[in-house]
Amino acid sequence: MNRDRLARAAVVAVVFTAASDARAERLELTKGPYLQALTSRAVVIKWETSAPAPGVVVLRGPSGAPREVKTAEKTEFHALDVTGLEPKTAYGYELRVGDAKAAGKFVTAPEGDEPFTFLAYGDSRDDHPAHEAIVQRMMTAPGDFLINTGDMVGNGDSASDWREFFRIEGPLLRDRAVFACVGNHELLGLGSPPWIRYFHPGYVKGDNRRGLFHTMRWGNTRFFFLNAMVSWEKGDDVTWIQEELARAESEAGLAHRIVVMHHGPSSSGPHGPNETLRRMQINELFRNKKVDLVLAGHDHFYERGELDGLRYVITGGAGAPLYPPKRRMQKATLALESSHHYVEVSVAGPKLSFVAKRADGSTLEECALEGVGYACKTALKSPHRDEPAKPPPPATPPKKSDCDCGVPGGARDGRGWVGLVAACLGLAATRASRRRR
Ligand SMILES: [Fe+2]
Repeated sequence: MNRDRLARAAVVAVVFTAASDARAERLELTKGPYLQALTSRAVVIKWETSAPAPGVVVLRGPSGAPREVKTAEKTEFHALDVTGLEPKTAYGYELRVGDAKAAGKFVTAPEGDEPFTFLAYGDSRDDHPAHEAIVQRMMTAPGDFLINTGDMVGNGDSASDWREFFRIEGPLLRDRAVFACVGNHELLGLGSPPWIRYFHPGYVKGDNRRGLFHTMRWGNTRFFFLNAMVSWEKGDDVTWIQEELARAESEAGLAHRIVVMHHGPSSSGPHGPNETLRRMQINELFRNKKVDLVLAGHDHFYERGELDGLRYVITGGAGAPLYPPKRRMQKATLALESSHHYVEVSVAGPKLSFVAKRADGSTLEECALEGVGYACKTALKSPHRDEPAKPPPPATPPKKSDCDCGVPGGARDGRGWVGLVAACLGLAATRASRRRR
């Protein structure tokens, strides 16, 4: 009898061990590792696994023995602070979670005035092959870090959309830190958007939709990331940007200020200008506080312009369906092309220049900031010359589902209702005329 019980216990133990092994084998990295909040002295490495598990990052610098940084938390998502780094220094790292391993590398930010380059892109959303083409091209481009102008995914509340985003961008984000502003598609759904966990550097559990702004400095340039998708009249956003821009006025060694927001104050696309920001005369604030450039997205094309003495670039061409420009473009628009692209921005002391590149690697245009305007080598014709501008490549007009966002800038805002009322009045008139006939 005892022998039978022992035998049964042994069988149960074997089955239990086999099941545990199978569970352990199934543990895999579902997101990352990817780099966040990279500075001259620290970085945050984030990842997610298929099951809760602690992890360890083995860091290798230019000298000394490898250093282990561990997280003991048994969770699926991790944000590991790695500190004690040296400025402008190359590091390699390996993440180990169970049997899963992944390696990456990064170079910390400089503390001086060294030149640097970054890649700006946005609105990748749903066209995965187009998004992949842009990412492949960016993988071969120089760039110390990345700036994303928002709308990374079609639905910020969808786990499968985020899976697809990380599948495509994984190799890029493993080696280059991305700094992002929030887009309207990240804010779809209720509660705390996953975007906060994935990309907001001030992520704390229980954070909500407000306060999605942050700032960072790289070399001689300070970047301000705004949430353009809220009603600014009521929020903390205005106070925050006013205070940060005022603080930047006395910041030692600062040569440039760049604002990043999803829906900017000017656009010749279907979404048009961000009227809330226009009403608040945000351009005047930016100009007075010496903002060099606004980087935006939301309309799915490339646009360069200048409004009220403020220069801006819309880079919304990383994969979402391309938008055609409005038939009558804004006076502020100086160049526009509806194509998938990204923008390579270089800073060297007082000089700030950029090259916009299409998905096939060709140059869209090349510009430097000069005085209060631009000096450009460009084949794009100004939309305001007398001769007809070259028509942009075929583009898909936005479908209702593309911009029916339920947030400022979406089809449900004021402009959408005006169109709806006009359409209803037209329909009623047609019916009345038929009845008369
Ligand atoms: Fe958008």
